[in-house]
Amino acid sequence: MVTKCVFPVAGYGTRFLPATKAMPKEMLPIVNKPLVQYGVEEAVEAGMRDICFVTGRGKRAIEDHFDVSFELETQIAGSGKEAALEGIRSLMEQASFSYTRQNEMKGLGHAILVSRRLVGDEPFGVVLADDLCLNPGGDGVLAQMARLHAQFRCSIVAVMEVPQAEIGAYGVIAGEAISDDLIRVTDMVEKPDPAQAPSNLAVIGRYLLTPDIFGLIESTEAGKNGEIQLTDALRSQAQQGCVMAYKFKGRRFDCGSVPGFMEATNHCYETFFKADA
Ligand code: G1P
Repeated sequence: MVTKCVFPVAGYGTRFLPATKAMPKEMLPIVNKPLVQYGVEEAVEAGMRDICFVTGRGKRAIEDHFDVSFELETQIAGSGKEAALEGIRSLMEQASFSYTRQNEMKGLGHAILVSRRLVGDEPFGVVLADDLCLNPGGDGVLAQMARLHAQFRCSIVAVMEVPQAEIGAYGVIAGEAISDDLIRVTDMVEKPDPAQAPSNLAVIGRYLLTPDIFGLIESTEAGKNGEIQLTDALRSQAQQGCVMAYKFKGRRFDCGSVPGFMEATNHCYETFFKADA
């Protein structure tokens, strides 16, 4: 059973300036719920109740969000407004939240390595909160991946097909198909030149990692953009052991970009908010 989930949230969110000047990008709301809450809900639904944030300066609002707001809650106690806090209150009851700081911005691989003491020697999930994944009526993407991990006991990355023009923004896999939705990874490249991409299968921000990844990250040199890339450590893991790529069921919105963020906002407004109002 995978119980821990790491949320690297130290990044700056420059694409959303000035909104993210004093506010973490993970707190940007999709309608009335911050992005990071969607990710934590997905983790808890998958049974990952130990939420480990790899955080940084200027990210205190995330800690406050997953805590009691005494003044606010006293003020609205007994009024109809309390109902709006039910979702976050129940989430807080179901999970525990730990925080560690990444004090140097050295890439996603480095952020994961910073979580090592919190995670220990266990398999764990990773959520990049920028990627909003929804699968209404079915299991969330992390729950789907946890099921596969129970079967294969190896690292799993979630992948989707993307057009060639966009492939250079992602980690890209090559591998051998095992079934319609499962590929055994043989190679991985971080943000390739589109003409040289090994496939059209892009890794999205959901991972289930076995703890040997930490040692592999330690021996990974800086790669693309001078950063320690998780993709490079996963390539070593795929070549020495086993990494599976999973074509998940559901829909993923790239909320790290303004068009993706708008699409997610419109979708959630139509699907959840308007329906409830
Ligand atoms: C990160 C990873 C990349 C992955 C992407 C998914 O990149 O490095 O491999 O495909 O997340 O969203 P970033 O978008 O942080 O540059």
